[in-house]
Amino acid sequence: MCGIIGYIGNKSACDVVLNGLRALEYRGYDSVGIAYMDNHGASKVVKQAGRVEGIYPLINKANLQSHVAIGHTRWATHGSPNIINAHPHINGDGSILVVHNGIIENYLEIKQELTKNGYTFISQTDTEVIPHLIDYYSKHLGTFEDALTAALNDLKGAYAVAVITTKEPDKIYAAKLSSPLVIGVGKHNEYFLASDPNAILEHTKKVVFLEDYDLAIISRDKLFLKDLHKNIPKHPKAELLDYDRDKVVLGDFPNFTLKEIFEAPVAIKAATLGRIQADKGIVKLGGLEIVATQLKLIDRIVIVACGTSYYAGLVGEYLIEEFASIPVEVQLASEFKYRKEPFSRSSVLLTISQSGETADTIAALNKVKDYGCLRLGIVNATGSSVARLTDAGVYCHAGPEQAVASTKAFISQVTVLILIALYLSDGTNSYRKLLKELELLPGKAQKVLDQADKIKSIALKYKNYKDFMYVGRKYCYPCALEGALKLKEISYIHAEGYAAGEMKHGPLALIDKDFPTLALATDSPELDKTISNLEEIKARGGPLVIIASEGNKKITKLADDLIYLPETMEQTQPILSAIVLQLFAYFIAEAKQVDIDRPRNLAKSVTVE
Ligand code: G6P
Repeated sequence: MCGIIGYIGNKSACDVVLNGLRALEYRGYDSVGIAYMDNHGASKVVKQAGRVEGIYPLINKANLQSHVAIGHTRWATHGSPNIINAHPHINGDGSILVVHNGIIENYLEIKQELTKNGYTFISQTDTEVIPHLIDYYSKHLGTFEDALTAALNDLKGAYAVAVITTKEPDKIYAAKLSSPLVIGVGKHNEYFLASDPNAILEHTKKVVFLEDYDLAIISRDKLFLKDLHKNIPKHPKAELLDYDRDKVVLGDFPNFTLKEIFEAPVAIKAATLGRIQADKGIVKLGGLEIVATQLKLIDRIVIVACGTSYYAGLVGEYLIEEFASIPVEVQLASEFKYRKEPFSRSSVLLTISQSGETADTIAALNKVKDYGCLRLGIVNATGSSVARLTDAGVYCHAGPEQAVASTKAFISQVTVLILIALYLSDGTNSYRKLLKELELLPGKAQKVLDQADKIKSIALKYKNYKDFMYVGRKYCYPCALEGALKLKEISYIHAEGYAAGEMKHGPLALIDKDFPTLALATDSPELDKTISNLEEIKARGGPLVIIASEGNKKITKLADDLIYLPETMEQTQPILSAIVLQLFAYFIAEAKQVDIDRPRNLAKSVTVE
């Protein structure tokens, strides 16, 4: 989704900003732009619909020496992705230049007021009100800082903004509200600005995370910070990021989606590394140690997440209830915000997020801020907003996930949820068996991947169908939902996920020879019931692709196509099944020759609510 990069210092600002924007590309965007000050203090804007590399040739070589620049990748919210709506947006005389992440909720009112005052708008964006509003206040208030402060205090919604002005060509102004923004402190009179610290890690690990209502005024040799509401200076608290930016390289893979699907065994290993000792029956989660005493007193867990992370949460619900006997409910973060449900101090809010930047998930954390309950996180991106906002948590350690559709992150989230279920358990049930199974799981995941060719030939057989049903029971049910999501996301084919037992309450009406079902029918005490549901589908002529446990012969006669999973426990089946479903969706998308890593209309990190 939208990204911001800024630079002031001795290096070529355009180079730094464009490289930073490149690092944010994987998040998904549809247009890009950069604003910089040339050597004479005049402003320049270059923008276009399309990719970052398209901007380089448009920048005058001489201006590559510019020392102040801000850049933006846009993911369209207000107005289609075209050059006019791309950021930066400017005021009438081009003296105020703004890039913005987030959504200004009251932009229509502001626009009306400004229009009455003679301002003209050329884009359909909410962002364009910002430079005009600053311009308006500039005419009435003393300094640029006063005008910007007044403008920002008028904005409702969410923003991370970077502003440059020809009136003060040696400064970058930056501010945030509910949208992340970080300032990197360089070595030699230079500062970096980014909506994601990973994008500037190659330059510096010393950063100042802006807080809501902070306004930063950045010159080459000074960072001044103030509280916008109180209009008083603040001391910038610099911290050292203690993580390295993992090198992300494609290697021999044609795209990141396939690469990341094939990283499943490594993702499982990384999530369990140093955390389990199966022979001793030990699960150690360092990230939860500081809240270990509180965790003994909890009586309810509410898991909140979006997209694929939400489906991982649904698997977690079964796991934690079965192993820890703690009631769990899973809610979509985008809906959780609106509920007025009772929430006691003995409840836990457990957020799951790959990016740690999903706006709805952050809003859920903010909602319960004053409830006195524990706020935990299962997060992949180290140092992200969710990681910072939670009291404690467990990192996935899956490494950067670049493709928009989440694959390896789901695998590691479910692995971490197994660890948490075991950690909260009193050691009963199949505790030790599951721990041992976790050790064997990377090898089994590899066995699933070894069947990629077979899965590909089945996928190709089904590539022209327009609709798909995905079904499963218990642990397989969330997996069916995730499988359907994967197909929708990357191949643009309509797919629905259903609990197998629900089919006859409506969806069975859809089934005919043109509506195949992908059935998760791995060994479990409920398998016979699932088989009955599949018989009902078969009886209506629906083609059946079945994922079953190795050696299960009962299912053979039902399946039009059959994919076997290595024998594993019920609780770990979602991990192995997910790999099959990811590959199935992948190969259909590949056959359709779409951009698999960056599906149309979608973004990796959804930073607007
Ligand atoms: C976007 C991504 C999904 C992801 C969801 C939640 O929609 O495309 O792959 O599952 O956001 O993201 P999070 O980073 O919070 O897990």
